Amino acid sequence: MVRDFSVRSNPDVYPPSEDTWFLTDVLSDFLSEYKVKKDHQGVICEVGVGTAYILIYLSLKYPHLRFFGTEISPMAVSLSKENIQEWIPNNEYYLCCTRFFDCINPKKFYPDVVYFNPPYVRTSHDEYNQYSPPITRSWAGGPSGVLPITLFLDELQKFRFRHAFFLSSSLNDNIEIMKRSDLFIKEAARQKIEGEHLICYHVIVNGES
Ligand SMILES: C[S@@+](CC[C@H](N)C(=O)[O-])C[C@H]1O[C@@H](n2cnc3c(N)ncnc32)[C@H](O)[C@@H]1O
Repeated sequence: MVRDFSVRSNPDVYPPSEDTWFLTDVLSDFLSEYKVKKDHQGVICEVGVGTAYILIYLSLKYPHLRFFGTEISPMAVSLSKENIQEWIPNNEYYLCCTRFFDCINPKKFYPDVVYFNPPYVRTSHDEYNQYSPPITRSWAGGPSGVLPITLFLDELQKFRFRHAFFLSSSLNDNIEIMKRSDLFIKEAARQKIEGEHLICYHVIVNGES
């Protein structure tokens, strides 16, 4: 994949990293295959945009799609706005500083694809709390590593969507996620990095493929 742009970062915001690039590749491949109906622009929603690297990359490659982003850290929202302004000033996007989808009306929101590169590193309960610095909260996943993912999956149930993707690590209690009977979740891809595998999961709604 050609990465011919770079985004600004700062010490309070999670910088583009191996997991960012891995998820970008999986989504990019998926969107190349994915047939958006002719009369439908296609709506993509990222939870936790960080620097907005993924959103910008996909917007440059798929300018016909409309992007929504949410992000819990005000510092990341402000940085991502700068990056978006620099790289895709004319694209249509909507960015909101909120937890998961809290600013979105579930009755009016029907995204084609939702994705989340969550905080997924196994940590103590102490690190996984709302008083930790924003940069810690961008990667701290709690003792199982999957606490933010579990919350994300709960939030996904509140509206209709077609596909969702999220990352985890092979070091996590992923069985906790996979055993959920309310969602059909399958492994879409994995990539080896030092000491672990990154795993990208795909949540599929009945009737979609
Ligand atoms: C691992 S970083 C990924 C950042 C960026 N998407 C990337 O791939 O480089 C996780 C991001 O999600 C944000 N985040 C964590 N929990 C969130 C939540 N409940 N709602 C919205 N954003 C959240 C964090 O602030 C952080 O920016």
